Amino acid sequence: MSHGLAIFVATALVACNGEGATETADVNLLETAQTRAVSIDDPIEPIPLRVEVDARKRALGERLFRDPILSPDGAVACTTCHDLANGGDDGRTKSDIVGRTPALVNTPSIFNAAFNFRLHWGGGYDELAAQLKVPIESPRVMATSFDEVLSRLRTRPDYRDAFAGIYPEGITQRSFTDAIVEFERSLVTPNAAFDRWLRGEADALTEREKEGYSIFKSHGCISCHQGVNVGGNMFQKLGVMREFFEERGTVTEADLGRYNVTKRDEDRHVFRVPSLRNVAVTGPYFHDGSAETLEEAVQIMSVYQLGRPLDDDQVDAIVAFLRTLTGRYEGGTRP
Ligand code: HEC
Ligand code: HEC
Repeated sequence: MSHGLAIFVATALVACNGEGATETADVNLLETAQTRAVSIDDPIEPIPLRVEVDARKRALGERLFRDPILSPDGAVACTTCHDLANGGDDGRTKSDIVGRTPALVNTPSIFNAAFNFRLHWGGGYDELAAQLKVPIESPRVMATSFDEVLSRLRTRPDYRDAFAGIYPEGITQRSFTDAIVEFERSLVTPNAAFDRWLRGEADALTEREKEGYSIFKSHGCISCHQGVNVGGNMFQKLGVMREFFEERGTVTEADLGRYNVTKRDEDRHVFRVPSLRNVAVTGPYFHDGSAETLEEAVQIMSVYQLGRPLDDDQVDAIVAFLRTLTGRYEGGTRP
């Protein structure tokens, strides 16, 4: 890594405005574009300010994502669990919807999911397109099939027109998936205070928040939570330095994590390291939703992952840093 290398970026553009009539959409997020020196020596990179998406596909995908027509009883939309006004998750330990089998794991945020190297806690999916069959078919989610969803959509002239205007083949599993994935790719939350600081806005963080980031690095959190999503780029065992599950008790199949995907013994209790983007608004925490607060989650990490408990003041500083990772969706104040 080259030290002292500085690049200059003109900030200000974020894509993904569904209103745009052209193929891609740009929105001016900041009123004043600024040119700043950026150090690229940090192990965390900012969320890109600009994501190229097809505005019409994205708008159709958003409509589908929000529409309970996807479920046979008309009761569940993707937003039921991935609430875009509340961190992109459901704020519950595990989802438990009337008429559905209760979920086995905590719902992850849909925001910035496109930046994760694999999807799901056990990393069972490589691509958003392949993942879509899970929420469609799972008895815990839509409990339906692509054929049923497509038939329901084909009864609706508005959807027939919307698809026909974009996809010559009309309503098919391919076009349906393509539109939803295009929307998911647009669900990014740039401009967190931390990202503004990384881009060179020196006063975007307080001294306390910088102290927290410094402990986050020196204590070792950064060895697993790093990259653009501050996580989401590797697999690690939960309980590296001390047995987590024996102490928590009643081990379930969901606690086996990546083992359920690979059936290799070394993958027992291994999980995709989760992203810490927007973590202040996506509690409760862990695959089992067992930590109610960020303070609790941070202390558990220091004990079970690093074998080095933190004192209350250090936990507090790290939590102050984690709160700076809350970005903005579509230029709003929070995801
Ligand atoms: C009943 C709640 C629920 C609903 C409704 C729901 N999901 Fe999810 N979603 C989950 C849970 C739980 C997971 C984690 C599954 C796992 O890790 O095993 C998840 C994971 C995901 C992921 C992977 C995120 C990541 O980073 O790993 C994507 C993408 C996703 N869902 C998309 C959708 C879409 C698209 C819909 C609508 C078709 C939808 N979900 C509806 C609960 C839900
Ligand atoms: C050895 C790798 C590793 C280290 C080191 C590590 N983590 Fe984690 N972290 C993980 C894994 C794996 C999970 C997911 C565990 C689970 O839910 O099953 C996780 C989960 C979390 C969560 C919950 C996120 C969510 O959305 O549920 C927080 C918060 C967190 N870590 C913060 C930290 C902090 C702060 C430190 C340093 C004190 C740290 N981690 C050190 C691997 C690590």
